[in-house]
Amino acid sequence: MKSRLVVAALLPRDVIARARAEFDALVVEGNDDMSALETVQAAIRHRADAILFTNTLPFSAELIAALPPCVRVGATSSVGYDHIDVPAARARGVMVTNTPGVLTECTADFAFMMLLAAARRASEYDRIMRKGWGFRIGQGDLLGVRVTGKALGILGMGRIGQAMAQRARGFGMQVLYHSRNRLAAEQEAGARYCADFHAMLPHCDFLSLHAPATSATDKIIDARALSLLPRGAVLVNVSRGGLVDEDALFDALTSGQLFAAGLDVFRSEPNYDQRFATLENVILAPHVGSASVETRNAMGFRALDNIAAVLAGREAIDPLWVGL
Ligand code: 8YV
Repeated sequence: MKSRLVVAALLPRDVIARARAEFDALVVEGNDDMSALETVQAAIRHRADAILFTNTLPFSAELIAALPPCVRVGATSSVGYDHIDVPAARARGVMVTNTPGVLTECTADFAFMMLLAAARRASEYDRIMRKGWGFRIGQGDLLGVRVTGKALGILGMGRIGQAMAQRARGFGMQVLYHSRNRLAAEQEAGARYCADFHAMLPHCDFLSLHAPATSATDKIIDARALSLLPRGAVLVNVSRGGLVDEDALFDALTSGQLFAAGLDVFRSEPNYDQRFATLENVILAPHVGSASVETRNAMGFRALDNIAAVLAGREAIDPLWVGL
């Protein structure tokens, strides 16, 4: 008999097909992911062994407490797991898993795209063309800032941060980074470790955020951090909106302290702070850093692999807690 699965998120077709082939799957219908209440109700109705979701579902202590005891695993199709209360899951004996590794390259590609687009005004030029262009652009007008050879600061030098550094090296950039731990020399590949985040900032023409959302990183990009960057720096955020004080960011973008920003993530999603949409010097994206066909399939498949492993009594591939 197949194990019973609730698929609470809108996932790629091939992932749903595999979920249906391998599990007795109850799949979300309509245009939105299941809410917490809908997920709990579906888990009860379907007597689910497992739940597959993404970062739109707060897998909170409250939700976990409301789950029927048959649920043994909750798998998020995302690397970030700030939406999961891991201690609560562990206390309840529900294994929770994420999908690290498979989205590294595409997310770094996307972050570098945002860096280039913000520095070289890609979305502003596109808006001009869509309005018909039709005016003379002088040699000194609408200029971006050079990327090649500049200094890139990276906050959070995990897999995605390191992949971002690799791309930056291809553009002749010097890479500085701040992370909880210093990397081994071969992983650093020439990047300069800065133990003090604030001391790194004055040396960064570009700053790209790749750290998880935790209490330690909440609003780490505040007015002080932004003021320490050189005037005219460029900020890229494809990690989590919680890292940024959005009022301070708005001020830095309107005062000229920042030349531009590339923002894929926001404190409030999907109803983000619309003030950013009024700014020409921002390129915006709706939290799609990992959104390639290959990567979204790989994420979903990895989540299914995690579920299958746990339900078969094996170790999860990507466990978020381990037994004592
Ligand atoms: C999103 C992400 O999950 O993996 C993560 O942590 O932020 C992304 O891959 C994805 O964009 C769905 O919202």
